[in-house]
Amino acid sequence: MIRFLALSLCASSAAAESGLAAWLRYAPLQGGESYHSSLPSHIVALNTSSASPVYVAGQELQQGLQSIYGKQCNVHHSSNGASSSIVVGTLDEYTKAYGSLNNTPDLIEDGYWLSTESSPVQILGKNERGAFNPNAPVRWTNEWDNLDGSIERGFAGNSNWFANGVIVSNLTRTAEYARLLASIGINAVVVNNVNANASLLTPQNIEGLGRIADVMRPYGVQVGISLYFSSPISGVKGQANLTTFDPLDESVVTWWTNVTSQIYQQVPDMAGYLVKANSEGQPGPLTYNRTLAQGANLFAKALQPHGGIVMFRAFVYNNLNETDWYADRANAQIQFFKPLDGEFDFNVIIQIKYGPIDFQVREPASPLFANIPKSNAAIELQVTQEYLGQQCHLVYLAPLWKTILDFDLRVDNESSLVRDVVSGQRFNHSLGGYAGVVNVGTNDTWIGSHMAMSNLYAYGRLAWDPTLDSQYILQEWIRLTFNADQSVVNTMTQISMESWPAYENYSGNLGEQTLTDILYTHFGPNPQTQDNTVWGQWTRADHTTIGMDRTVSNGTGFAGNYPPEIAAMYENIATTPDNLLLWFHHVNYTHLLHSGETVIQDFYDQHYAGAATAQTFATMWESLKGKIDDERYYDQLFRQVYQAGHSLVWRDAISNFYHNISGILDVANRVGNHPYRIEAESMQLDGYKPYTVIPFEAASNYTAIVTSSNTTTGTAQTMITCPSGTYDIAVNYFDQFGGDSHFVVSLNNVTIGEWTANLKPWIGSSEGPRVLGHTPSIYIDGHSATRITFSNVTVAKGDMLKIVGTPNGIEPAPLDYVSLLPLGIVD
Ligand code: GCU
Repeated sequence: MIRFLALSLCASSAAAESGLAAWLRYAPLQGGESYHSSLPSHIVALNTSSASPVYVAGQELQQGLQSIYGKQCNVHHSSNGASSSIVVGTLDEYTKAYGSLNNTPDLIEDGYWLSTESSPVQILGKNERGAFNPNAPVRWTNEWDNLDGSIERGFAGNSNWFANGVIVSNLTRTAEYARLLASIGINAVVVNNVNANASLLTPQNIEGLGRIADVMRPYGVQVGISLYFSSPISGVKGQANLTTFDPLDESVVTWWTNVTSQIYQQVPDMAGYLVKANSEGQPGPLTYNRTLAQGANLFAKALQPHGGIVMFRAFVYNNLNETDWYADRANAQIQFFKPLDGEFDFNVIIQIKYGPIDFQVREPASPLFANIPKSNAAIELQVTQEYLGQQCHLVYLAPLWKTILDFDLRVDNESSLVRDVVSGQRFNHSLGGYAGVVNVGTNDTWIGSHMAMSNLYAYGRLAWDPTLDSQYILQEWIRLTFNADQSVVNTMTQISMESWPAYENYSGNLGEQTLTDILYTHFGPNPQTQDNTVWGQWTRADHTTIGMDRTVSNGTGFAGNYPPEIAAMYENIATTPDNLLLWFHHVNYTHLLHSGETVIQDFYDQHYAGAATAQTFATMWESLKGKIDDERYYDQLFRQVYQAGHSLVWRDAISNFYHNISGILDVANRVGNHPYRIEAESMQLDGYKPYTVIPFEAASNYTAIVTSSNTTTGTAQTMITCPSGTYDIAVNYFDQFGGDSHFVVSLNNVTIGEWTANLKPWIGSSEGPRVLGHTPSIYIDGHSATRITFSNVTVAKGDMLKIVGTPNGIEPAPLDYVSLLPLGIVD
């Protein structure tokens, strides 16, 4: 119901905004009074209970009309005497009050009917949550909140609902979150991490789940929980402690049946369970030689009397041996799940990540969608940008998701779009849908950055209607969240639509996946961590070749997991698209792409192009000054400036790494050739010493400088030899977690800038402090590498450039280089 209101407004406001209201700001419309005569003056919400979504929708309408148009309306809860009204209610209640309706469409569960032609205006739901017909019944978020209040892969502060092992008493933010989710059609939230903790099941926490459910219910959003498979032996306080967690053991069945009943006593409408089993160290049924289906059905049966469902994750894999050319993590889910098709209970849904590996910047659609036709399926998307810049790089994800949702798997040589598989339509299932890993925190922006909220909005909209266009959704979000000024809409659209391609280009193109540090933060560049591990995100890069051979003829056989038409396309290098080449094939660096370029030159070119695009985002954003509120303007500008700098770190690290390993020169002579840079290690050092950075490619010329001790102030200076003129002076340094070093840059002892390495704002903002929320690094590496720029500095040949660095904590004031950039050049 709330969605109706959200879409009916497009207003502007320049007042400071924290982001908390997201797209439900109901910002006043200029000239709103002129609409008063055409707006109804009464709202009839056909339910008297304040816990009912219909009641809440009535209040929401009242608040929206008041706030947007300045129109005061009364809310009534019966049809008596309310003329000129908007009626909100279920179809059944409407019929009781007003008699039956002609011409209403067939509504399915959660569907709604909206008529502005009629008098009264009708907003009628099949049930109390109604809003047009959704494409799939399951539209959940997954939140990876831990009971201690931390959030796995969350970049926006701590949990809104857990702290110190229990559920917090103040659930105001939880209710606000449910309101936002309701407005985009989300119908359940799994509140705890897939890497679950058995103590969620203490009587105290079960009572707490009841409180969470109570605050979300008025918005039509249900609660679900993640389970720890071996909970029966975990000594959960207040529950029996068994000696086995074998899913076929009677005592275990009884244990889960009891716990499930206890939960339903507190949460009568609990949505269901999410289970990660036998993956990444999590316990599961395989310990007892039971199948994953037997494990899933244990919970399914416990839930059946209560109407709940099990979301059973397909993300199951074991450690792998890299020396085995045929080993492939991407095959794991097929090996585990395909033989079990048909063995899952009716209320089990297999929750499948969009790609076969793990939320990478580019993956082919998971072939599992084509291989378990007898099972219910859901797609798992990641709203939180774990591998895609952690909300510190802007990456609008809807276009990525659409490449998967719209992908045609050609099962039995017939149209088999992924979105039709998960809606249940392709294989005739009534259950299926969407799980989005969101990980909202206590930060006012919800997920860590204002612009990243477009991803949550788009997730909800696509789960409701996957045929929507990415740009259409984006513009709807911009108008609601910011305003409808054409230049605001155009600028934000351009930045957002260019953001995924740019990020792909400077992180890992040609299907190489996000070349980040998979062993540490998943944030900055570190391509060598992909290989020589048991994790199976291999690139198999050596001095002459690169890429995973996933062909049937010579490789891991993964391509053969697709139905024949698709398998044939990926098996053959000539028909594999360039953007997935290295996902499927192992080739020479000199292999020619369809584009006519060599693999290595394309690496260089795309990394330079991606970083160049990222430079334009900050500049474009600056054109919005005064057109949106300052608070959000400066906050996002801070991020765009950071992204511009860090995209150069990515560009240089990846280009240097492959240049180094292949020994092949960049034909454009950019890689390793930086005429505007002064390397810190080549300056005159006092109290500073050179430091060899690991990984080597994270520093220009592989070397940084650090103070000789953690209490020594260091000075690096050099005489300027370039022609006199106006320059942008960029300083690349490292901002480690565990210390806030201070830096002062001067020319002939006149300070041109100073800053503290704690990534708080350095731009002209009255608001602050601003902190980047990505997973921090305690090392001098590609995660901590960053840049600060001082613009339009007048420099004379012969001036003495000096940087004084004062270390702090573990951070030895690390510096990489200084770039003196003639205006218009960035390097
Ligand atoms: C990724 C992520 C983990 C998470 C896992 C999962 O590997 O890095 O933090 O637990 O996915 O989805 O289960």
